[in-house]
Amino acid sequence: MNQNSLVSIDDISRDDILDLIERARYFEEHPNHKILDGKVVATLFFEPSTRTRLSFETAVNRLGGRVIGFSDASTTSSSKGETLKDTIKMVSNYVDLIVMRHYLEGAARYATEVTDVPVINAGDGANQHPSQTMLDLYSISKTQGTLENLTITMVGDLKYGRTVHSLLMALRYFNPTFRFVACEELRMPKEYRDFCDANGIRYTEHTDFSPVVINTSDIIYMTRVQRERFADIMEYERVKDLYTLRADMLADAKPSMRVLHPLPRVNEIAQDVDNDPRAYYFDQARNGLYARQAIICRALGIDIYSYDKGE
Ligand code: NCD
Repeated sequence: MNQNSLVSIDDISRDDILDLIERARYFEEHPNHKILDGKVVATLFFEPSTRTRLSFETAVNRLGGRVIGFSDASTTSSSKGETLKDTIKMVSNYVDLIVMRHYLEGAARYATEVTDVPVINAGDGANQHPSQTMLDLYSISKTQGTLENLTITMVGDLKYGRTVHSLLMALRYFNPTFRFVACEELRMPKEYRDFCDANGIRYTEHTDFSPVVINTSDIIYMTRVQRERFADIMEYERVKDLYTLRADMLADAKPSMRVLHPLPRVNEIAQDVDNDPRAYYFDQARNGLYARQAIICRALGIDIYSYDKGE
């Protein structure tokens, strides 16, 4: 395995996280810093994506590198029965870095075992989404001025949502208090509640998205109910509309609170929230570009500070 791979947020330390945030800040000021000259990056998306793929590709383009890849595996040889192992080994002949999204949990880890090229996990099933976590942390740090001692409310699909799983793990370094708001079917899995217990992280669970939860939060992290992960579509129909944030529910929320969402949203955030100054999800998506520029440079072992800080 290439040590520069990023498969799980748990692979990197507190210092790595803080360092990546600093670098994201740098790229926000210098988004067109051409330091990937001659580098080729593959984006292999076996699952649908808009922001993640486009922001990774924009990141490479703005840094002066080149991108190859696919956004629809049905047009590739995997539809002819090629194994993931063979696809990864073959692509490794062409590129310096692989960014991949796959519907199977553990797929990115497996990829690191069959190639020496660094691999960035852009989401593996319901498991992990570490680059999303870096942009979430960057967004939290920018809007709250700190990552420490915050009350973070996660709402919606806490069972299948990989973004909340990664974010929870990363925040263990920063003394968070979590509120998990979900129905019984989509509650935070035991594995992650055990992780909180093992790391001394405070959390409470709620089925009610109540004013007291909203008004004492520093961050409200809304999530989409992950329809594609349900074995039983009737169960999806039962739970899909349980939690919707509307503008009137924010009347007494803290002025400094921010609403985050990894996007895409379906109906868990009403359109009227978009006009509230605390709605931050579109800015959050923009931060993804800078966070991913930082992640790409780390994976390629490029020290951005050793280059001239020109545009
Ligand atoms: C998320 C994902 O793919 O896990 N999207 C994203 O990458 N921004 C969340 C989702 O699809 O609901």
